[in-house]
Amino acid sequence: MKLPDKRGYYGSFGGKFVPETLSFCLNELESAYRTALKDKQFKKKVSALLIEYANRPTPLYYAEKLSSKFGMRIYLKREDLLHTGAHKINNALAQAMLAKFMKKPRIIAETGAGQHGVAVATAAGLLGFKCDIYMGAADVSRQSMNVFRMKVLGANVISVNTGSKTLKDACNQAIRDWVSSVDNTYYLIGSTIGPHPYPEMVRNFQSVIGIEARKQILQIRGRLPDFLVACVGGGSNAIGLFYPFYKDSKVKFIGVEAAGLGLMSDNSASLAKGRVGVFQGAKSFLLQDCFGQVKEAHSVAPGLDYPGVGPEHSFYKETKRAEYVTIDDKEALWGFKTLSEIEGIIPALESSHAIAYLKRLAPLNRGKTVIVCLSGRGDKDLNIVMEQLGDK
Ligand SMILES: Cc1ncc(COP(=O)(O)O)c(C=O)c1O
Repeated sequence: MKLPDKRGYYGSFGGKFVPETLSFCLNELESAYRTALKDKQFKKKVSALLIEYANRPTPLYYAEKLSSKFGMRIYLKREDLLHTGAHKINNALAQAMLAKFMKKPRIIAETGAGQHGVAVATAAGLLGFKCDIYMGAADVSRQSMNVFRMKVLGANVISVNTGSKTLKDACNQAIRDWVSSVDNTYYLIGSTIGPHPYPEMVRNFQSVIGIEARKQILQIRGRLPDFLVACVGGGSNAIGLFYPFYKDSKVKFIGVEAAGLGLMSDNSASLAKGRVGVFQGAKSFLLQDCFGQVKEAHSVAPGLDYPGVGPEHSFYKETKRAEYVTIDDKEALWGFKTLSEIEGIIPALESSHAIAYLKRLAPLNRGKTVIVCLSGRGDKDLNIVMEQLGDK
């Protein structure tokens, strides 16, 4: 089966739920994307940027001490070692090159925690675009260092004061901008979300994670892993790791969502606790109240507090190709501390959710091989961790 189908559906999820004006922008984008994929120069340039500028391929690191702690063979896919410190740069560079291919002089983007915003500001600075980043006012004040980083990189950060003043409001504002400026503007979405073709494009640009990991584990171990584990916000690092193993049916996929303050809280984990609905142009699981209004999400990891999730994950859940589990704030902080102390690697709080899940996976799976996507480094989160843990 081809995922997605021609209309952008993954089973019954995905699609393109947009007004007519936006439909034009998306058709133009899709046609440019398909043409670019056939263009050898485009592919060569993206690949050169990923290698020479972003630092690919990233290592697949055997975490010996973590492995002996849990009794499993644990490999970390080190996306934290990329330029700007997270997997977001893979997609930002590739889409910025697509914007160049489309001859658009301006890029806009939405950002929540600021990681995607920083990646876009970096790519825009490097490739010479004018760049405007929409960010909810609440996030602007919570993530002041990332706001400053974007400004230093030459981007203009626009604070959004509507709604809950967070990521979903920033997305709405960016879409509004795009509709009225599509002639000269490229909208660079940061995860496998939004209307078709974004989820497919972002997945394909992030699949470099899984393509490399598959090759590396076969070289190192001569066999495929038993498990792949990755955190899920919008879902791009997880799909990037999973998708190249899609046909390897013996490899189990585990997506780790944030449970925020715990299982009783109902403002986190779109796949575990959400219902199917339409949000930001696509049909997928999302957190909503009994009137269908989108809820605000919470997680200690700023990159995981998004009320929706990419449609491909909804499809993997429905078809049971992947299992989705939850890890709460406290467990994630434990994961953060554990990896820092025993491997000397400070993980992003998002990635700490995936690390923390190993504690639950290990007891029934001793001796098994697992690849964990270490989606980012934790320097950006030190203030949050300091607040949460003090100097414990
Ligand atoms: C380091 C890191 N990991 C994971 C995520 C979650 O995004 P996604 O699910 O698209 O990979 C983010 C989002 O900002 C992030 O910064």
